Amino acid sequence: MKNGYPYFMLKEIHEQPEALKNTILPRLNKGIPDLTDDGIPDEILKGCSRIQIVACGTAMHAGMAARAFLEPVLRLPAAVSIASEFRYETPLIDEHTLVLVISQSGETIDTLAAMRLARSCHAPTIAVVNVKGSTIARESDYVFYTHAGPEIAVASTKAYSVQLASLYLICCRMAYVRGVYDNIQAAEFVKALLESVPAMETVIRGHEMIREAVSPLIHSRDAFFIGRGLDYTFSLEGALKLKEISYIHAEAYAAGELKHGTIALISDQVPVIAIATQEHIFAKTISNVREVKARGAYVILLTKESAMVEDGLADLHIRIPEIADRFTVFPIAAVLQLIAYYASVGKGLNVDQPRNLAKSVTVE
Ligand code: F6R
Repeated sequence: MKNGYPYFMLKEIHEQPEALKNTILPRLNKGIPDLTDDGIPDEILKGCSRIQIVACGTAMHAGMAARAFLEPVLRLPAAVSIASEFRYETPLIDEHTLVLVISQSGETIDTLAAMRLARSCHAPTIAVVNVKGSTIARESDYVFYTHAGPEIAVASTKAYSVQLASLYLICCRMAYVRGVYDNIQAAEFVKALLESVPAMETVIRGHEMIREAVSPLIHSRDAFFIGRGLDYTFSLEGALKLKEISYIHAEAYAAGELKHGTIALISDQVPVIAIATQEHIFAKTISNVREVKARGAYVILLTKESAMVEDGLADLHIRIPEIADRFTVFPIAAVLQLIAYYASVGKGLNVDQPRNLAKSVTVE
């Protein structure tokens, strides 16, 4: 069942490029996303004046990344809420709010309750779900199925990637039907999205290199993941993965916010994984990396291939292939998943079944 992989998690990391293609390609019509077969009418995408995303855990992190690209493309206010918080709030949503509900299992109780609350406010819901016929899929107004195949390891990997691919497709279709993109712009968006698939493959092929990279991490009690903008949202997921399967305390921090107190925690005992793939804020993140390096941190720096940084800034520099900034999440996610995976393996832990966790959280 593991196809020769020692753990399901490593198998599922490797399955991601295929899962991405399975999710993206059937939705393309003349090179642009078409959601007709999903039963998602353009009117729903056209009519809304804001977007609300609800989800938990890794799915919520996919939502945070989505917010960061939906809002500037569509020029629509977009918010992300933790489902377990949202469900007890009095949200300002109505029939003009498109609610995107993200869940791999489709059974997470808080996400389900958040969706029921949204529906009771007459907001149309689109559920981005992996498991066919799950409760969230059945109760949502519309469903966009991700085609990741079954995810067995407790730590979510391929589900996160396909959730993001789905959200990019929804974003592109929305931009198209709202007149933000014409045919050519929508096709270019999709082309760039597809270029991220081989980029992710390249990273996964080089996974043994990441095994060596994480050895200093294994002996650490704490670690930080930093980045700005989209990179910050990726760092949230990197920190969650590391905590979940290696039991190393990890915190994700918006790089520019470190100096407002938290930098006091940085020392030579605290590795920092810094993500800097976004051109417009690259120099700013790098200056934050200099700050942590000056305090002795062991720095693992993740950038694009072409990034120029001074010697000695990073103890380890992992470069991902050159793709559009907007889509760097796919190769970066693979790096972050592999860092967590090899930290867990290095500590001799049960990668697929971390303590205190279940695959599907059906209790409040
Ligand atoms: C972390 C992880 C969890 C889930 C969360 C939501 O690796 O798997 O954080 O993402 O419990 O689960 P779903 O997506 O099934 O609603």
